[in-house]
Amino acid sequence: MQLGIPNENRDGSLNENRVSATPDVIKKIIKAGFSVVVEDGAGMHAGFFNEDYVKAGAKVGDVAEVFGADVVFKINPPTAQEAEFLREKCVLLSLIFSHENKNLVDFLKNKKITVFAMEKLPRTSRAQSMDVLSSQANIAGYRAVIEAGAHYGRFLPLMMTSAGMAKPARVIVLGAGVAGLQAIATAKRLGANVEAYDVRPEVREQIESLGGKFIELKMHESGAGTGGYAKELSEEGKKEQQRLLTEKLKTADIIVATAAIPGRKAPTLITKEAVDGMRRGSVVIDLAAATGGNCECTQNGKVITTDNGIKIVGTTNYPSLVPADASLFFGNNLYNFLVLLGPNLKINFEDDLVAGTCITYNGEMRQ
Ligand SMILES: NC(=O)c1ccc[n+]([C@@H]2O[C@H](COP(=O)([O-])OP(=O)(O)OC[C@H]3O[C@@H](n4cnc5c(N)ncnc54)[C@H](O)[C@@H]3O)[C@@H](O)[C@H]2O)c1
Repeated sequence: MQLGIPNENRDGSLNENRVSATPDVIKKIIKAGFSVVVEDGAGMHAGFFNEDYVKAGAKVGDVAEVFGADVVFKINPPTAQEAEFLREKCVLLSLIFSHENKNLVDFLKNKKITVFAMEKLPRTSRAQSMDVLSSQANIAGYRAVIEAGAHYGRFLPLMMTSAGMAKPARVIVLGAGVAGLQAIATAKRLGANVEAYDVRPEVREQIESLGGKFIELKMHESGAGTGGYAKELSEEGKKEQQRLLTEKLKTADIIVATAAIPGRKAPTLITKEAVDGMRRGSVVIDLAAATGGNCECTQNGKVITTDNGIKIVGTTNYPSLVPADASLFFGNNLYNFLVLLGPNLKINFEDDLVAGTCITYNGEMRQ
């Protein structure tokens, strides 16, 4: 059985450096009994050359060959043109975001393609090694702090030198899910003073175990939802939260904002008033820029400097800025899912991970 690895950024115009499998992942896929075809130049932006893939045992092919394989590993949902190239009844493992891509899903269904939408993987312990959202959020949290350090004109750690003393940066992390917890850990490693806030009070312990200080707001409403996720607050709750956070946020040198609610617009936590009250030279990294932003001033995909000298960074796709490791983790996640399916790709809907992730099968919508 053949497995295809396409180029995620064929014409170089996309904000994407990752590839869905690295040469190390390819070796494991081949060991599992597949032959692999990698599109010419697919790993180039992540630092993996055609010759590295050939050494790992893959063949290099063109776009028609990789999409003509029995199984295709993708990161981003296929474009309309890529979907045309996919072979009937093949198996596709990819992020799909079906609500935003209804036409694509319809097209894939009509072509009888078995589509596993990796963002739908149930978030259970057994699923952890296959969870692309977690592996990439972890990288985003790390990279967001590196980005903050690059935009901040001062040190993050305390520096005592013969030329003077620099105080440690005060970092506030908003949202302590996978990305937020990694941002806390990274900022601590760099020597900053770190405080963090989440609407789910149960994360206090996790924040403290990383050396962060939990910011407690005396709210009348809880944001704890089901399955470990947050729920959207009422309009009054949102206003109360903004009001209580605003004074605190004015004290931050760096804010890393990661708050999200699955399938919803990101909550607005950083008001313009908070930004206006921050010290000149402070930095806001808004990881939620693509889903509406946690900060009122964020412009999606842009880095702006406000009138009072605060940098608001609306960069998106942070995992793509750590492309080698992000590709390794993404590829490992997909490989682990492939192993779950087994060498003959027998689809067992009794398995909750298979059933939860499969959206189209044999010409039918599954969910
Ligand atoms: N396999 C697994 O068991 C597994 C894998 C990944 C995540 N999880 C769990 O799932 C949960 C969500 O993780 P995620 O990283 O996907 O979260 P996410 O990306 O959906 O949200 C990020 C964080 O934002 C917070 N948030 C939402 N609204 C907020 C608001 N108004 N104010 C402040 N914070 C707000 C959320 O509580 C969450 O912690 C966590 O409990 C995580 O531990 C479990």
